[in-house]
Amino acid sequence: MTGLFITLEGPEGAGKSTNREFLAQRLREHDLEVVLTREPGGTPLAERIRELLLAHSDEAMAADTELLLVFAARAQHLAEVIRPALQRGAIVLCDRFTDATYAYQGGGRGLPEARIAELERFVQGDLNPDLTLIFDLPVEIGLSRAAARGRLDRFEQEGRAFFEAVRLAYLRRAEALPERYRIVDAAQSLTQVQRDLDSLLPQIVERARG
Ligand code: TMP
Repeated sequence: MTGLFITLEGPEGAGKSTNREFLAQRLREHDLEVVLTREPGGTPLAERIRELLLAHSDEAMAADTELLLVFAARAQHLAEVIRPALQRGAIVLCDRFTDATYAYQGGGRGLPEARIAELERFVQGDLNPDLTLIFDLPVEIGLSRAAARGRLDRFEQEGRAFFEAVRLAYLRRAEALPERYRIVDAAQSLTQVQRDLDSLLPQIVERARG
């Protein structure tokens, strides 16, 4: 693998999508091939699994079903999009990946970390993101931004305690592996967030050029 795998993480309302576009544009200005994608989703089949995960239903989804669906979508996404892009040397900018599983299914739903790690090994082998940007922000700000966007999906309707656990799980992962993670203060103005991203750009470009 010669490309660079960058993931963007954080709660809903943290500005991941806007900043993913911003980073992609900056990297393309350096003549680098950038593939923008997201999880759950990123291929037609994986997007169908995403719909199952986000939709409200009369039948409650068991936490293990949710975990397996997330990894099923990921297996398809890796096979169809991520591995081929990295193999041809592209930068993959992915909105959420397995850190979200540790945060939402691990932190939020309370599933054991070891179970997630087992599926991670099975589905990814030794493929992990090279760099993960965590857009961190206080839970109440994220919740009010998500609510302002309209109807809440199956995750967004969770309560404050769920999102506090999600946030804590992200921050713990960043603390455990500081070389892979960068925490971006997403409560700042968009201009300031993008200034922070600009300051990370030289090292990203350098790594992408190998
Ligand atoms: P988003 O992409 O619009 O932020 O929404 C995707 C939702 O899916 C979000 O609430 C987080 C959730 N999710 C998980 O619970 N586990 C995962 O592994 C991933 C990738 C997303």
